Amino acid sequence: MKRIAVLTSGGDAPGMNAAVRAVVRTGVARGLEVFGIRNGFSGLIAGDFFQLGPRDVGGIIERGGTVLGTTRCEDLKTSMGQRAALQRLEANDIDGLIVIGGNGSQRGSLVLSQCGIRVVGIASTIDNDLFGAEPSIGATTALDTAIEAIDRLRVTASSHRRAFIVEVMGRNCGYLALMAGIAGGAEAIVLPEAPLEPEALGDEIRRSYARGKSHAIVIVAEGATHNAEGCMRYFSQHAERLGFELRVTRLGHIQRGGAPGAFDRLIATQLGAAASEYLQTQGSGVLLGFMRGAVAATALAEAAASTKTFEAPLYRLAHTLAE
Ligand code: F6P
Repeated sequence: MKRIAVLTSGGDAPGMNAAVRAVVRTGVARGLEVFGIRNGFSGLIAGDFFQLGPRDVGGIIERGGTVLGTTRCEDLKTSMGQRAALQRLEANDIDGLIVIGGNGSQRGSLVLSQCGIRVVGIASTIDNDLFGAEPSIGATTALDTAIEAIDRLRVTASSHRRAFIVEVMGRNCGYLALMAGIAGGAEAIVLPEAPLEPEALGDEIRRSYARGKSHAIVIVAEGATHNAEGCMRYFSQHAERLGFELRVTRLGHIQRGGAPGAFDRLIATQLGAAASEYLQTQGSGVLLGFMRGAVAATALAEAAASTKTFEAPLYRLAHTLAE
């Protein structure tokens, strides 16, 4: 193993740069030549490779986003795209590839590994929906961003005795919404894993006011059956009977931006270092994630075939805490 390459793929996540930096610096320290690939799998297919040395990754540990660029690449799902990716790796004499990204990206890693490429994935997504990572890179920073916004919204909600629906990201996974709801002290939480009809949500909000609260904060996951849009559609049709004033805020991509927190920098650094070591010493076909305080390897095939279990006890706790 002489030359390895690293790319970031899918939705950017705070901490990706820290992982790239660790891959490069530990790879070079281990005697490897390290190449960056721009713009994820699209750059791989296009052959957009460039060599990276320790100085090239200076001043990036504190930066959000990804200095390598990223895409959601449809072409890698086609056999033509896969053939082009293999040819590019071969033409650049790359012996191993590190893919930093979430669910869709690691399915791409699996495909390449099944084609005979030595691949190691690094779990990185704000959604925290990747099996084999608890949490994935970016999730805790995104959560902090959501909490900061919720704290601000609660101030204005309280002043006006208003209810707020705050929609957070997470695709089909309720992790961010559940954790933001608990840490943000929400009155109600609506998740893909725990749906709530808008009518029942309205009752919940009215009960909060009846218990003496001066506001109601509802955290809604974007992937819930009734997300912010769905709830607002219902509530605007029943505005005169609600009994409370309602506003809605979608946090959207704000959760993806911003500097990574200390925890994300630390896990990304350890995962990046482990990935270059793993490629050089043990082979490939795994997803590296941070689990129970340490780096853990899960077969890419297992990660792709598995889903995380929903934290039902935490959801019940959130309900009790909303009292
Ligand atoms: O996977 C990360 C994520 O931010 C999801 O939470 C969200 O559903 C999606 O990406 C948004 O994707 P895009 O940035 O392509 O609009």
